[in-house]
Amino acid sequence: MLIRRAGPFTANDVTDETLYLNRREWMVGAAALVLMPGEGEAATPQGQALTATRNEALSLQETPTKFEAATTYNNFYEFGVNKEDPARLAGTLKPRPWAVQVDGLVHKPKTYDIDELLRLAPLEERVYSLRCVEGWSMVIPWIGYPLAALLRRVEPTGKARYVEFTTLLDPSQFPAQRPSFFGFSLEWPYVEGLRLDEALHPLTLLTVGMYGRVLPNQNGAPVRVIVPWKYGFKSAKSLVRIRAVADEPKTSWNRAAPQEYGFYSNVNPAVDHPRWSQATERRIGEFRRRPTLPFNGYGDQVASLYAGLDLKKHY
Ligand code: MTE
Repeated sequence: MLIRRAGPFTANDVTDETLYLNRREWMVGAAALVLMPGEGEAATPQGQALTATRNEALSLQETPTKFEAATTYNNFYEFGVNKEDPARLAGTLKPRPWAVQVDGLVHKPKTYDIDELLRLAPLEERVYSLRCVEGWSMVIPWIGYPLAALLRRVEPTGKARYVEFTTLLDPSQFPAQRPSFFGFSLEWPYVEGLRLDEALHPLTLLTVGMYGRVLPNQNGAPVRVIVPWKYGFKSAKSLVRIRAVADEPKTSWNRAAPQEYGFYSNVNPAVDHPRWSQATERRIGEFRRRPTLPFNGYGDQVASLYAGLDLKKHY
């Protein structure tokens, strides 16, 4: 199934692969030099290539956002509030060794080493757009596999109705988690959640890479979730725990500002954020704003999950 999006495109819109790879390699190298000065050992696999097969049916036919923009304009509050903070500071994050605890209301709880997690299911490349609640969006070739593949391994019990995602809590790796940090801060660790059926939806991607490489630290290395029909903040980064639970998880943004950030946070141009409109968005790299689509354009696949639910109330 092809996802139809606004805006004509041609084969010429696609970045020349060789140019793109060269530029990317250069940038990854440059980033490593800038971010990890003086580190003796290569403790992280930053920049390592990841082979994945493009899932054409679930990929947008749009030119991806430039790698440089996608890795230098980030929200990752554990590094600070400014968009450039994550790229500048993320060298302190160590994506190896790394383990992800998958537990809660499941028959077979297990703590996965990240390298085992990477091999659990065939890696796919999926070009998704990510719509941030702030009114911008990007188009990113993510690499991963359906979160459902992992959840089915651990066998959620009949009592499991939601899935909670928790980001690493470690002030030595995340400056904004230090008590001495000065500036806006959330309650740590960062927690997000989905209903179990949302988590099991085939579009929900357990994500380990982007642009043919492992995830850069600033994009949530070594593993995050991507939920393309929801505002970007639902797609929690650098996960250490995925837990099946009975009740709606208490999520970080909902705790911080419940009137502004609901649990569902489906992209919805008809429901404004209390402080700004959600009707349009700016794709990073473009000048003109474009209309925001319900469910970020994935309505055909996901609207049925919300049949009978008042999406104005459950924003
Ligand atoms: N995950 C954690 N742990 N911390 C964060 O601050 N920011 C969210 C989301 N996941 C965030 C997070 C927001 S607001 C967005 S828009 C996306 O990550 C941005 O993902 P990107 O930097 O890969 O584009």
